[in-house]
Amino acid sequence: MAKGTGTVYVCQKCGHQERKWLGKCPECGEWSSFVEERARVAPKGDAGRGGLRLRQTQPVAYGDIESQDDVRTSSGIDEFDRVLGGGIVPGSLVLIGGEPGIGKSTLVAQVADKLSAQGLKVLYVSGEESERQIKMRGERLGLTAANLYLLPETNLESIFDEIERAAPGAVIVDSIQTVFSQKIESAPGSVSQVREAAGQFLLLAKNRGVPVFLIGHVTKEGAIAGPKALEHIVDTVLYFEGERHHNHRIIRAAKNRFGAANELGIFEMTGAGLKPVANPSEMFLDGRPENVSGSVVAACMEGTRPVLVEVQALVSESKFNYPVRNAQGFNTNRVGLLLAVLGKRVGLERLLSADVFLNIAGGIDVDEPAADLGVVAAIVSSYRNKTVEPRTVVFGEVGLTGEVRGAMQAQVRAREAQALGFKKLVMPAANTEGLQRLLGLRVVGVRSVEEALDELF
Ligand code: TYD
Ligand code: MG
Repeated sequence: MAKGTGTVYVCQKCGHQERKWLGKCPECGEWSSFVEERARVAPKGDAGRGGLRLRQTQPVAYGDIESQDDVRTSSGIDEFDRVLGGGIVPGSLVLIGGEPGIGKSTLVAQVADKLSAQGLKVLYVSGEESERQIKMRGERLGLTAANLYLLPETNLESIFDEIERAAPGAVIVDSIQTVFSQKIESAPGSVSQVREAAGQFLLLAKNRGVPVFLIGHVTKEGAIAGPKALEHIVDTVLYFEGERHHNHRIIRAAKNRFGAANELGIFEMTGAGLKPVANPSEMFLDGRPENVSGSVVAACMEGTRPVLVEVQALVSESKFNYPVRNAQGFNTNRVGLLLAVLGKRVGLERLLSADVFLNIAGGIDVDEPAADLGVVAAIVSSYRNKTVEPRTVVFGEVGLTGEVRGAMQAQVRAREAQALGFKKLVMPAANTEGLQRLLGLRVVGVRSVEEALDELF
């Protein structure tokens, strides 16, 4: 077939389009990601189908627009409300991404149950599991879900017909990768299909004012038409983080038009579904080895909430020309930078040729600079084989000259440390104001990494 005007090549990772096939995507750098798809030829006047057009076409005075914040509905699950920024916003489109088997369907089933208990009619569109499978999960979870309706359907047009008919108060789509529109020729699960479906659900959410939850699979090896391709379309993006090997599940808001991004919801996967974890610090520090070298507690902020985590480091003599730098839950490049600071500014030169392994215990990802001091302390603790007193907690950003820089929310971190019974806090001197009188917690302000290390060892 001659390549007519209707053929485009679409990168299945980022959605970039080219007229001809390329081995490597110039946009995102992915290899072999181009797939031939038909360009969409939209029939004229089609946008009005089923009222699927943003209704309002006239400008409206800012002052006349109703405030939305007071109309959030609680999902009935605190931790889920928290990641959403304080509950479900009507008319919002929420994408929930995560690896297969991490608990996405479990979470939405539980949310559906709670919403249904509030009298809301919930439509659960499932392209992955049969009604029976969902029912089986529901029984395991002890759901009653009187107002929950299951629709095993993957055809976008049929789904919309059903929504039109049933007029649900909330819609769940599990998963967006299984939904396909017959108006588009590309295969189900391709970027074009997934985007088209998400775009239609966006219009649906806005027009009807109902919240829509889309589930999207993330695969380890370069998400094919994964949630990344949808992030710009939806209002809120939630990702399951961490590993399946741990019992707890962390849900993070990667984007939120209605609240703080980076907010965390923390759950424990139990025999009866996901249970919210009220005190994450306690959970992350549970089972922490005390009085061993290479383990330090750092006070981090996750969204608006303080979380104390254990930073573990193992430093050993390298057997290779290129020493190993391996970090779990922390940026590996940043570890390299901190090692350079320790080598050059603190005089620990032998560290530069040592193998360094770093791990944030519990499978949480920490990506704020204030965790630096915890990383530095853990590395030096392992390197010198000296323990840090177990009731000590640290935080602070480390600069390139070896200075310890201030961090935000010092008060909140200090109070969390105090609440968990820690005795000493080593932190940036710039932030210590007003913290000297915390009962039972000795606050030590430091200006440089050297000062901090003197204080800790
Ligand atoms: P599921 O929600 O089906 O994952 P996803 O939709 O993200 O693919 O969850 C699957 C895993 O969760 C499965 O390995 C079993 C486990 N699980 C429990 O441990 N407890 C439970 O109550 C449920 C429903 C599932
Ligand atoms: Mg599932």
